[in-house]
Amino acid sequence: ISDTNEIIEKVLIDEESLNLRIKKLASYINEHYKDEDTLIMVAILKGSVMFMAELAKYIKVDTNLEFMAVSSYESGTESSGNVKILKDLDTDITDKNVLIVEDIIDTGHTLLKLKNNLQKRDPKDIKIITLLDKPERREVEIKPDWYGFKIPNEFVVGFGLDYDQRLRNLPYIGVLKREVYEK
Ligand code: PRP
Ligand code: MN
Ligand code: MG
Repeated sequence: ISDTNEIIEKVLIDEESLNLRIKKLASYINEHYKDEDTLIMVAILKGSVMFMAELAKYIKVDTNLEFMAVSSYESGTESSGNVKILKDLDTDITDKNVLIVEDIIDTGHTLLKLKNNLQKRDPKDIKIITLLDKPERREVEIKPDWYGFKIPNEFVVGFGLDYDQRLRNLPYIGVLKREVYEK
């Protein structure tokens, strides 16, 4: 097992920048929902675990933390609008404000399908916050209501994001060395 630092090309967003930006994002959320009586934050496993945990620390309005697991590649259904739910919400979102918490929007397929799925449950409102946005890679039209950083099309890992299930634990967002995923 190798030292993780050896397979990182460079640090794209360091720990301090992440923390500062996440506090700022939390202030937008606090302001937006201050007069609402519900807020259900829904993190999508596993990538958004770190972001959810850090963001939630600074949320001042009353909120529920919920988690969902979905499968992004159910063969043949890429454009059907269906998403395979591996772990569903534990709570009813009817008439509630829902905030989907994602680590990254890449092609957009995951979020588009998930949003359609949640919409059918008649929530009061659904908004999306993502830590990272890679707009160059988008294949379907979906935009976050809030984002942390727009990033170029590079293979990023850390702070929840994985390469083959590894490196989620890095405290920063790093770019993976090319030779790691090309060999
Ligand atoms: C990654 C990432 C987003 C999704 C974005 O999750 O965490 O959830 O892909 O991709 P998209 O915009 O192209 O749909 P992944 O399916 O790798 O699962 P993970 O969160 O468990 O790593
Ligand atoms: Mn994910
Ligand atoms: Mg992943």
